[in-house]
Amino acid sequence: MARDPLLELADRHLIRYVPGFAPFLVERARGSWVYDRDGNRILDFTSGQICSTLGHNHPRIVEAIRDACDRVLHLNSWMLSEEVVRLAARLAELLPAPLEKVILLNTGSEANEIAMRMAKLATGRFEVAGLDQSFHGLTAGVASVTYSVPHHGYGPQLPGTFALPAPYAFRCPVKRRADGTAGCPGCDLSCLERGFEMFDANSTGTLAAVIAEPVLSAGGVIDPPPGYLRRLAELTRARGGLLIVDEAQTGFGRLGTMFGFEQDGIVPDIVTVSKTLGGGLPLAATVVSPEIEERIVERGFVHVTSHVSDPLPAAVGLAVLDVVIEERLPERAATMGRRLRDGLLELAGRHPLIGEVRGRGLLLGVELVTDRESRRPAEELGARATDECLARGLSMNIVRHVGANSVWRIAPPLTVSEDEIDTALSIMDDSLTAVAAGAGAG
Ligand SMILES: Cc1ncc(COP(=O)(O)O)c(C=O)c1O
Repeated sequence: MARDPLLELADRHLIRYVPGFAPFLVERARGSWVYDRDGNRILDFTSGQICSTLGHNHPRIVEAIRDACDRVLHLNSWMLSEEVVRLAARLAELLPAPLEKVILLNTGSEANEIAMRMAKLATGRFEVAGLDQSFHGLTAGVASVTYSVPHHGYGPQLPGTFALPAPYAFRCPVKRRADGTAGCPGCDLSCLERGFEMFDANSTGTLAAVIAEPVLSAGGVIDPPPGYLRRLAELTRARGGLLIVDEAQTGFGRLGTMFGFEQDGIVPDIVTVSKTLGGGLPLAATVVSPEIEERIVERGFVHVTSHVSDPLPAAVGLAVLDVVIEERLPERAATMGRRLRDGLLELAGRHPLIGEVRGRGLLLGVELVTDRESRRPAEELGARATDECLARGLSMNIVRHVGANSVWRIAPPLTVSEDEIDTALSIMDDSLTAVAAGAGAG
């Protein structure tokens, strides 16, 4: 395929914020598909940056944007609009009590940054712990508890930040896995208990918060065992800290329930939502109880940013939530997720490159290994298999932590059809076969 000449301009003028850009430019996107400037179509099994759970350019989102263009886009931070008030109320309705006080922001990084600032102000403490392999954003504060991206070269991280081991059963951090089976059926959460023992050894007794994703997506779709978040909440609260659950990717249905934390029967102290709330537009929120809100306001909480409480994204958020509820997308994620998982397990039966299939709902991971005995990450073969998929019209992330793992992260829109799932599985099958045979579509 000839290289799009506009990519030369990209080479000249764009900062390379990722190791490599896609080899094509996108002209338009609809539903589960993106279309390049040559008219090729590609199945987008990452929903953009895991944001477009309704599919690309959903008509209800487009309509909400058009409507906002006719009325109001942006306001001074102290002025409120109807959509902002309604979206805050809507989020409070969807979340369990006492989570009913909302601030509307732009990105996941910002929502987590604010969650950490609120936890510090509310508790009067400053230590924050996160899980190894987590991703919570790359602004200075949250980058300190984002452990799936190296900290090297960026100078001091926030004082008082700690990493707890990730509950990565396939590569158990406390080496408890007794047999060669996938997952860790007899997991007793030793890594979590040991992690807090290590934390206590380091802590000055001033834990403000622990932050966690329900499934560690960027770390390689690491799926904590049942009861993990519950125990995490207990251990955090026993030390006087608040539990922040980051639902950036999992909020509004992806795991088969409205929120990921519901599956462990807990209510976090602070919830952040972002990516999936805006359906492709920058919109995020941090939600706390009236008690926490009262305390931080008494202590002088201020967060005035240029786009706090902007009306346009809030109108989009309302449209997204309407569609999520009307089309019962959490249930749909569970059903379609089963079809996709069954297909992946069938592929695992035939392709030894697949070491494990894991995840929940429509957030699934396929860990690629050179062989199942050593479980060595298939870095080179995995990259080739991903390129093969793209050449055949399927875009998926490969999450690669050099020397640590190599995992396909699969997160199609929740509106994905059965046919699209079957097409993706067939492309994965062909690509794995081509890589195993040392051939390729080129
Ligand atoms: C779980 C999680 N939290 C936070 C973020 C950061 O969000 P943003 O990129 O919108 O700042 C991400 C981004 O990938 C994420 O996956």
